[in-house]
Amino acid sequence: MTFDLDIAVSEKKINTQSTEETIKEGKNFGSGLRSGDVVALTGDLGAGKTAFTQGICEALNVKNSVISPTFTIVNEYDGVYKVFHFDAYRIESQKEFISIGFEDYLLEEGICIIEWADKIKDLLPERTIWVKFYHDEINEDQRELRIKFPEVNIN
Ligand SMILES: Nc1ncnc2c1ncn2[C@@H]1O[C@H](COP(=O)(O)OP(=O)(O)OP(=O)(O)O)[C@@H](O)[C@H]1O
Ligand SMILES: [Mg+2]
Repeated sequence: MTFDLDIAVSEKKINTQSTEETIKEGKNFGSGLRSGDVVALTGDLGAGKTAFTQGICEALNVKNSVISPTFTIVNEYDGVYKVFHFDAYRIESQKEFISIGFEDYLLEEGICIIEWADKIKDLLPERTIWVKFYHDEINEDQRELRIKFPEVNIN
């Protein structure tokens, strides 16, 4: 028997009420990651992208301190896997991101996490997992996270 089944992109919605909860969700998510995974984070300033990344790094047993690489563009951490933590906030073009060797990082053993990933979306592979952060208009400590896993086709 042959199947021709498309499994649509799966999306998971999570609400958090505090920084600690966002870190905890990052930790849950991070425990499922493997070498070669690419995680794209989007959302405004202060949305929680770095907090979530701290959780991921906790799950991966990273001992380095995890901060937005706003000026360095990339921070490298050592844990169960290597973690390459990017911040595209200050970059002016996708070309600039290529010039720091982004495409080579994608080929390395390890996990790539990119804050402000929408600025370099054309450079991201299909396997990218997207995590979008939304602020709550009323409660300033509330966030909605939407995690979108890549499409899987089974034919
Ligand atoms: N539910 C929440 N989840 C995450 N952070 C929260 C939450 N509620 C409040 N905060 C606060 O929001 C800020 C989130 O900061 P964080 O550095 O993680 O954001 P960011 O998206 O990385 O911003 P940037 O684009 O400047 O790098 C922190 O000051 C944190 O304490
Ligand atoms: Mg940040």
